[in-house]
Amino acid sequence: MTKTIATTFETLSPEGFAELKGQVALCLPTDGKLGAPARKINSLMRGALARLVASPSWEKGKAGQVFELAMPERMAADSVLVAKLDDKAEQDQVRRAGAAIAKAHMRGDMHLIGTHKSLGDLLLGIILRGYNFVPYKPKHEDHRGGLIVHCKDPKASESAMAAHLALADGVFFTRDLVNEPANVLTTTNFAERLLALSELGVEVEVLDEPALAKLGMRALLAVGQGSPSPSKVVIMRWNGGGDAQPFALVGKGVVFDTGGISIKPALGMQEMTCDMGGAGVVAGAMRTLALRKAKANVIGVVGLVENMPDGLAQRPGDIVTSMKGDTIEVINTDAEGRLVLADVLWYVQDRFAPVGMINLATLTGAMVIALGHENAGVFSNNDALADKFLKAAKAAGEGAWRMPMSAAYNKIVDSHIADMRNSCGRPAGSITAAQFLGRFVKDETPWIHLDIAGVALPPGETDLSPKGASGWGVMALDRLIRDNYEPK
Ligand code: BES
Ligand code: MN
Ligand code: ZN
Repeated sequence: MTKTIATTFETLSPEGFAELKGQVALCLPTDGKLGAPARKINSLMRGALARLVASPSWEKGKAGQVFELAMPERMAADSVLVAKLDDKAEQDQVRRAGAAIAKAHMRGDMHLIGTHKSLGDLLLGIILRGYNFVPYKPKHEDHRGGLIVHCKDPKASESAMAAHLALADGVFFTRDLVNEPANVLTTTNFAERLLALSELGVEVEVLDEPALAKLGMRALLAVGQGSPSPSKVVIMRWNGGGDAQPFALVGKGVVFDTGGISIKPALGMQEMTCDMGGAGVVAGAMRTLALRKAKANVIGVVGLVENMPDGLAQRPGDIVTSMKGDTIEVINTDAEGRLVLADVLWYVQDRFAPVGMINLATLTGAMVIALGHENAGVFSNNDALADKFLKAAKAAGEGAWRMPMSAAYNKIVDSHIADMRNSCGRPAGSITAAQFLGRFVKDETPWIHLDIAGVALPPGETDLSPKGASGWGVMALDRLIRDNYEPK
């Protein structure tokens, strides 16, 4: 797994600044007032910091912008990075400053002068943007060393930062899973990586095809029947909350989506390695909860399948019976995610009766058309839970936007020959997909469907991630659990 940068905490001692090797980073407020540590660096550099904050480029610089002063006089470091950042800066500005420091980190250690009020967010920005997925670049050499935070009370800072490090670790787990190609991350390989979470105290159980058949998960099994990779459902349980009823996270884990017999066009099909993104976020969230020993009971359940065209694959026109007992007319084998989730959602309610349930899925291309790559779609049967989630996503800095559901949209899902159809035309494509899922949610289960098709694998780099998987959702889910399902 891609490791987060090794982070250590040391006592701040300006007398040692001249000897620091690698790169040095510090934050200065907009008004350019230098605190004691900055004054020390300024005097070593014969006034360079004072000149920087008096310059027009400092004046023009945005909050969170980083200026690099190379080869500083009388210092062993290769450069000094100065972030323009007030103590009162907004969370996203602080994280962006961290990200800019990470982008400028080229070689050797990064010494962060940790005097900023929001040190946790600054660190999170540095760590998240420092992600680099390189297992398939064998010639790649990483010259970056560790992150050394110089602060007044290293012990206190270190324990205050532990939850942030757990978050970053969970995000990295999600990003790795989404970035892995489908010839490596098969259903079996995915299940093995989830089984490894048991080292952190997560209880992990894998259901194989015979077990799924016995449970009656014909809709899920139909999706995987054209692939040599066996379909699986993996159940992860984090029991940190005594005997409380669990909260459930459910993920779509289509390790590759060719569309099946309703095959997708060639252009861009390689992006369908991200179609296990929902399952990836569930896995990352479980990892974070376990690493920070959350005082909550949370179960994560993922449906792992591969959607391939084959002589054994399901066909358009097939009718399958779900575990719930409802029949589904398969109009389009490319609308496979909802077939997988239908059975997993039902199973989770049947077995665990969760207090609340959130599923995540790269479910529809229509979601990308509606909200682009900035926001995930939030569909819910419960305003209270939806509001809690939207609040958590906002606090976490992850874009989320509520979408409508109603009886009128639900009606469109009816089939003339079965209880429902899995595809019903282009209008409101993301909403009808949500309505389909809603048919497998009991009235008494507060539920949210998150359509992450646009945010799981954005087309370029974002504020906090290089090009590739974003890990969207891990931070919002962790925040939701922390704020609502753990003792204060
Ligand atoms: N995995 C896709 C949705 C998707 C599209 C995810 C773009 C990420 C980026 C999903 O299985 C799919 O193919 N959906 C179809 C549904 C249609 C056939 C009703 C779609 O959106 O076209
Ligand atoms: Mn599909
Ligand atoms: Zn899909």
